[in-house]
Amino acid sequence: MLKVAVVGVNKIGKLHCQHYHLHPDTKLVAVCDLVEERAELMAEKFGAACYTDINRMLETKKIDIVSIATAGEENGSHHYTPVMTAIEAGKDVLVEKPISNNIDKAREMVQYAAKQQVRFVCNLNHRFVPAASKGKELIEKGDLGSLLFLNMKLTIQNPKDMTPWFHMRALHPHSIDVMRYFGGDVHRVQSFMTKAPERNTWSTVSINMEFDSGAVGHLTGSYDMSRRHPIEYCEVAGDKGRFEIDNVYEKFTFFPHERDELLAQRNSILSGVGSFHDTFANRFSDFISQVKEGVPPENMNASGADALAVQEVIEAAIQSQVNNGKVIEVPQVKKPIIN
Ligand SMILES: NC(=O)c1ccc[n+]([C@@H]2O[C@H](COP(=O)([O-])OP(=O)(O)OC[C@H]3O[C@@H](n4cnc5c(N)ncnc54)[C@H](O)[C@@H]3O)[C@@H](O)[C@H]2O)c1
Repeated sequence: MLKVAVVGVNKIGKLHCQHYHLHPDTKLVAVCDLVEERAELMAEKFGAACYTDINRMLETKKIDIVSIATAGEENGSHHYTPVMTAIEAGKDVLVEKPISNNIDKAREMVQYAAKQQVRFVCNLNHRFVPAASKGKELIEKGDLGSLLFLNMKLTIQNPKDMTPWFHMRALHPHSIDVMRYFGGDVHRVQSFMTKAPERNTWSTVSINMEFDSGAVGHLTGSYDMSRRHPIEYCEVAGDKGRFEIDNVYEKFTFFPHERDELLAQRNSILSGVGSFHDTFANRFSDFISQVKEGVPPENMNASGADALAVQEVIEAAIQSQVNNGKVIEVPQVKKPIIN
């Protein structure tokens, strides 16, 4: 049984606690929040030890995994300190997205995790659904042929207006992670952004991408849509076929170029993804099974390095907007130097 501690137990941290509590291979042994009442509430609910200081928690409690759901500016500035502390203590770590809103700190975390040889992953949960697995399987089997283009749309309603780049940094780790999952590394980006009336953040974006493979892609993103709209659409096309994923997990359809028969995979009402919360459960289950199986840090799914690569694309898109739509090269995430 793997012993888990959750750090930051407000809205999303509560979901972390619940999933580790329910999973048959993990036991939630500790919770930590700077706000004592929040930690107490979760500790009582799940029979875990209660802390307000991660250092004290790591000194006094035996823990295998630290799951971090802090937030901060652009939903990512508070992750750095608990992540670095947990890595220093040699724990396997899952951090919420964005890995950080500060690219230098994101780079530092990934480098440090590699140096300490701990597993470091991110909650990039949109890819942990049967529809995405099916798409990946068909790409790897060669059923799409050579990849040509990807179209992604991720639009939700978020009226918060933290900073000019809040929408880009806080939301689009999800969309760009799914694009990279299917299309590989992104080489160059070019963006145009706009704002809904009265907004401070660039709340609607249009981003062109060129992948290392030569495939091209496009992302439409927005914080300005209402809850009545589907949130996500993804299309991936090659020279042999094309697939579409509707709304993260609702429907997968593959359209081969040379056959009239389509391959459709529904989200079963009995065994499929029941709600968006199940994407968390799937992501945590994948992490837990990889830790249990002893998967080496560099082979972890949706790793810290993946989360960093996504953030590099986001920063390049921001640079493009700042520079009047200029094409920007994306710095590639190098294999961390272990010394
Ligand atoms: N994966 C997803 O689909 C998804 C969806 C929504 C939000 N998120 C992410 O989840 C994270 C948390 O979001 P939230 O809305 O719950 O944030 P929140 O601000 O409501 O909660 C964060 C909690 O962390 C605590 N905290 C901050 N620094 C701490 C520290 N050093 N030690 C202990 N506790 C600390 C705060 O006191 C607070 O209780 C964000 O990064 C957000 O981007 C992910």
